[in-house]
Amino acid sequence: MLAGTEESYWMDSTPPTSYPPLAGDIDVDVAVVGGGIAGISTAWELTEAGLRVALIEADRIAAGVTGYTTAKLSALHTLIYQELPADKAQLYASSQQQAVERVAELAARLGIDCDLERVPAFTYAESDPDQVRAEAEAAARAGLPASFVTGTGLPYPVSGAVRVENQAQFHPRKYLLGLAADLTRRGGQIFERSRVTGLHDHTVTTEAGHTVTARHIVVATHYPVFDRALLFTRLVPRRELVVAASIPAGRDPGGVYLTTEQNTRSVRTAPYRQGHRLLIVTGEHFTPGEADVAERWQHLTTWTQTRFPGAQVAYRWATQDNTSTDRVPFIGRFHPGTDHVHVATGFGGWGMSTGVLAGRLLAASITGTELPWAGLYDPRRLNPVREAGSLLKAQAKVAGHFVGDRLRPAHTDSVADVEPGTGAVVRVGGRQCAVYRDELGAVHAVSARCTHLGCIVSFNDAEKAWECPCHGSRFGVDGAVLHGPAIHPLAPESAG
Ligand SMILES: Cc1cc2nc3c(=O)[nH]c(=O)nc-3n(C[C@H](O)[C@H](O)[C@H](O)COP(=O)(O)OP(=O)(O)OC[C@H]3O[C@@H](n4cnc5c(N)ncnc54)[C@H](O)[C@@H]3O)c2cc1C
Ligand code: FES
Repeated sequence: MLAGTEESYWMDSTPPTSYPPLAGDIDVDVAVVGGGIAGISTAWELTEAGLRVALIEADRIAAGVTGYTTAKLSALHTLIYQELPADKAQLYASSQQQAVERVAELAARLGIDCDLERVPAFTYAESDPDQVRAEAEAAARAGLPASFVTGTGLPYPVSGAVRVENQAQFHPRKYLLGLAADLTRRGGQIFERSRVTGLHDHTVTTEAGHTVTARHIVVATHYPVFDRALLFTRLVPRRELVVAASIPAGRDPGGVYLTTEQNTRSVRTAPYRQGHRLLIVTGEHFTPGEADVAERWQHLTTWTQTRFPGAQVAYRWATQDNTSTDRVPFIGRFHPGTDHVHVATGFGGWGMSTGVLAGRLLAASITGTELPWAGLYDPRRLNPVREAGSLLKAQAKVAGHFVGDRLRPAHTDSVADVEPGTGAVVRVGGRQCAVYRDELGAVHAVSARCTHLGCIVSFNDAEKAWECPCHGSRFGVDGAVLHGPAIHPLAPESAG
């Protein structure tokens, strides 16, 4: 039995939203599809600039990846600065730091109490410190207040760390729900439970058949659900687990921390009950559909309790992000053939500052201003040298799943072998069926073929979901889409 309630603390500590679904056809200046940090930030910036904006969300706003993040708000992004040429590193640093400041500025200006705390950010090593030393130098050259240190606030020794001053941590939903409320006060419109399933020229269409016609369309659906530029060949999905535990306030490590060692560990805290802080630990990343998730959650819990003795696990949750093959996000016009469709994706685990940055960049571009870092994030760029290795690796993996998973024997021989509370891919009448047996013994069968591009899904036992290893689409046991790029549910099957 895994410790902690399976829910995100951010979701549990804020009220649900109830914006209406789109119920007719409308015409606006900009349609923003997707209500995470990227979509809400973009919609707010555009409304602030005086445009008529409609934000269209498939489910509830700030409840996708953004509702399950860990919300370290920082320009220190693991080891990115040593990977970028000097001019690009400077643009990256200044754009990300400005995004951190934008959150602080808007929270103060709009009176949003989002538990924003200014803290230092660290990327640390417990073994060889050479990489973090190089990163400290590269980050300082890029203009960040960065230094190499050997002491941190963590209760265990490190061999070295990059320390960047004046970064932040916050409550992402408190911030974004405040921004969304302000957006509607200024005349912006928000529609929830309105999944967009079509994009034609200047019009998006929802599942219910209603349309939004706009001069500009922003696709902020995390993994792009419309992708004529084939960005999916340059995006790699990665799912990660989170454990949150109560610790005495006196043991707060006082910063936001990350190491790439031990399959990644990230540490921060948030205000919690009287005299306590909520320690939030992330790690154990994997390709969706490719891991024993319960086992990994157990590893993360054990690590948390060993490194922070006495920590009382209160919550656990999971979510995923996409990384671009050159590790710089894609923000801007989708592809050379269109001027009016824009995208923000590939945040690589750093979507808090990057989502806010995306809002400013896209709003500026749509209103006719080019920010200095537009070229750095332009989705139309190609970095053949930096991308080649990761691109080939990503494509080989997808091809392996696409072909290999079809030829491989089904995971289980017969529906009768599927135990209550578990799921498996079973070949029934020549078709690969995704079969889940609920705790009461009833069988739920859907097609195992992902509705995005047809890879075969796998069952995540711990989260009770079907996951596609190719581009990270996720589906409920009834086949409903939980996470794109898929927009259509898995087709019902008869397992009889
Ligand atoms: C475990 C973990 C921890 C992280 N921690 C940090 C951190 O500490 N700091 C940091 O900077 N970043 C962090 N990140 C990354 C960050 O959380 C993400 O990059 C960011 O939240 C992504 O925001 P988004 O707006 O792109 O996506 P989302 O928040 O997922 O928003 C996209 C929205 O689009 C909607 N949508 C999808 N399809 C459709 C459709 N067809 N029609 C309409 N709407 C649709 C979805 O329902 C969703 O609400 C973390 C990521 C992970 C996985
Ligand atoms: S997510 Fe692309 S094939 Fe499944």
